[in-house]
Amino acid sequence: MNQPSPPAQIIDGVALSQKLRSDVASRVQALKTRGITPGLAVVLVGENPASQVYVRNKVKACEDAGLFSVLEKYEATLTEAALLARIDALNNDPAIHGILVQLPVPAHINASHVIEAISPDKDVDGFHVASAGALMTGMPGFWPCTPYGCMKMLESIHYDLKGKHALVIGRSNIVGKPMALMLLQKHASVTICHSATTNLKALTLQADVIVAAVGKRNVLTADMVKPGAVVLDVGMNRNDAGKLCGDVDFEGVRQVAGYITPVPGGVGPMTITMLLVNTLEAAERINP
Ligand code: GUN
Repeated sequence: MNQPSPPAQIIDGVALSQKLRSDVASRVQALKTRGITPGLAVVLVGENPASQVYVRNKVKACEDAGLFSVLEKYEATLTEAALLARIDALNNDPAIHGILVQLPVPAHINASHVIEAISPDKDVDGFHVASAGALMTGMPGFWPCTPYGCMKMLESIHYDLKGKHALVIGRSNIVGKPMALMLLQKHASVTICHSATTNLKALTLQADVIVAAVGKRNVLTADMVKPGAVVLDVGMNRNDAGKLCGDVDFEGVRQVAGYITPVPGGVGPMTITMLLVNTLEAAERINP
């Protein structure tokens, strides 16, 4: 009878975040001795409960690492023109190095107009077309925080992507597409799968690295994973009991994978960590 393979090693996003955030805090202190405090403006429009939690966590993380942060909250009735005027003011505010407008914005506001109004020099979310273009062409710019955090997790296990097959499930502008470009930049052969992919399991079984970023439970199960593969779970879902879970069947897949990220405590904290890194770098770039 086959012995079950040992469970995968867990990549702990909380522990890695602690280490990276303490590096951020040291670099923030170094800037402060020169009279510069990196500043992040977080803008929230409306009352979305999940967004309220996210922005609170982002502001708290800034405070903990010694960054300056302002949280601007507006009623859901705020006009697009008024929001764009606020962004313009923040673009011109020397105390602010990073600007983040929490998504989703209310339906009467065009999210693209908002994203493109942010100065690329302050686009710490990495959502501006200039940031996307910089990532695609290998130019300096800000990388979206979630896939950037995934890359740091691979770095933390000293994973060499060169010649490996990396597979991304999901094609969003925020995670799937930038994730694929980052993996490509590290010399992986990259496959992007999505809702119209017909042979998902046949493809995932060939992958050395799988990033699941769909927003649906159990998109990746143990039978779909090559033994020893690295599995990064970007999902944030609730199970039937209301418990936070990812896109990956964690208990099943951990019996097959070599490494796996948990939810919670995996990619989630890394997203905020990379926001701090980007904000710090925004301040460092204009104060070389
Ligand atoms: N909504 C969900 N995730 C994000 C994010 O990373 N940045 C912003 N601005 N909004 C989000």
